[in-house]
Amino acid sequence: MTFPFRNALITGGAGFIGSHLVSNLLTTGCEITVVDDFNDFYDPVIKEANLRAHAGTIDLRKIDIRNAGSLDQLFADKRFDCVIHLAARAGVRPSIQDPQLYLSTNVDGTLNLLEACRKHEVRNFIFASSSSVYGINSKVPFSETDLIGRTISPYAATKLMGEQLCSNYSHLYDIRCMCLRFFTVYGPRQRPDLAIAKFTHRIMNGMPIDQYGDGSTARDYTYIEDIIQGIVSAAGYQESNYEIFNLGGSQTHTLSELIEAIESAVGKKAIIRQLPDQPGDVPRTFADISKAGSLLGYSPTTPFLSGVHRYVDWVRSGEDSGL
Ligand SMILES: NC(=O)c1ccc[n+]([C@@H]2O[C@H](COP(=O)([O-])OP(=O)(O)OC[C@H]3O[C@@H](n4cnc5c(N)ncnc54)[C@H](O)[C@@H]3O)[C@@H](O)[C@H]2O)c1
Repeated sequence: MTFPFRNALITGGAGFIGSHLVSNLLTTGCEITVVDDFNDFYDPVIKEANLRAHAGTIDLRKIDIRNAGSLDQLFADKRFDCVIHLAARAGVRPSIQDPQLYLSTNVDGTLNLLEACRKHEVRNFIFASSSSVYGINSKVPFSETDLIGRTISPYAATKLMGEQLCSNYSHLYDIRCMCLRFFTVYGPRQRPDLAIAKFTHRIMNGMPIDQYGDGSTARDYTYIEDIIQGIVSAAGYQESNYEIFNLGGSQTHTLSELIEAIESAVGKKAIIRQLPDQPGDVPRTFADISKAGSLLGYSPTTPFLSGVHRYVDWVRSGEDSGL
C-alpha cells in the first residue's frame, strides 16, 4: 500500500519507532513535521541522534503534547492531512511508579491531538496502541475481537483509553482513526530501557543481567522494519473510519530464548541474576495478525534470530549512542 498523504505530523518522531518512520516517509516525498518534547525518560541525546540525518529536511518542533495551545497554533500553521501519533510515556514498570504522568501524557496528550484534528479538520489519525491492552488475556493468540477489560498496568490502561478516544472522535467527527497494537518492537535505535537493549549491553560487557521470573514469560517480538511496513499500510487503509489492528511478529519467544539468542549473536554467555516476577508484566503476548494480513497486506518478514543478530550488529557498529 502506498502512503497517500503529503503533509504529515509525526508525534514522538525523535523516538525509536518514530525516527524510523520519519526516514521511511521521507522517501515517499511527504512533507514531515515532528513534534517531540525530548524528555529524559531516556537520554535526549539519543533522540537528537535519531533524527540527525534528517536535519534540514523535516520541520522539528519541540512541543509537549500536553500543551493544547501550542498544538492548536501548530495545526493552524501547517494544515496537516494526517497525524501519526506515537508520542507517549512508554513502558509498563515506570507507569506503576508515576501513573499521573502516564495519564496526563498518554490520555490528555492524545485528547489534545484529537481535538486539534477536530478543530483543524484533519481527517486521518493513526494511534500507537500496545499489546499490553490485552492484559491477562488467557486466550492465545490475541485477536482484535477478544473482549478485553482487565489491563494490569496504568500504561496499558492509558493505551486502552486512547483507543476509546479514537473511537469517539471517529464516530462523532468523522476522523478516520486506525489504532495499531504494537507487540514488543525491537531493532536498531531500540529504546535503552527495553530488555533486548539492556541484555545486549550487559552481556557484551560481561556484566550480570536481571532476569525477572523463571524465564518462561513470553513475548511476540516485532522487528522495526515490519512495524514500519504495518504503520504505512494502515495509514493508507481507507475502507473504514475506525479499525484496530494487531501488528506483531506472530511468534512467541520466552525470555530464556531471548537471552540465548543474544548470547549467540554476541558470542558470550550471560551471567543471570534471577529476580521475582515484576508486577504489571503480562505472562505472555502473542498476536493474531490475520486481520492486518488480509486488510493491509501486512506480512512480517524478519525472523526473530536474524532480527536479534541485526540488532547486535548495529550495536557493534558503534552507532548506538544509548549504550
Ligand atoms: N517499542 C515498543 O515495543 C512498543 C510497543 C507497544 C507500543 N509502543 C508505543 O509506540 C510508541 C513509540 O514507542 P517507542 O518505543 O518509539 O518509544 P520512544 O520513547 O522511543 O518514543 C516516544 C517519543 O515520544 C516523545 N514524547 C513522550 N512524551 C511526550 C510529550 N509529552 N510531548 C511530546 N513528545 C513526547 C518522547 O520524547 C519520545 O521521543 C509509543 O506510543 C509506545 O507506547 C511501543
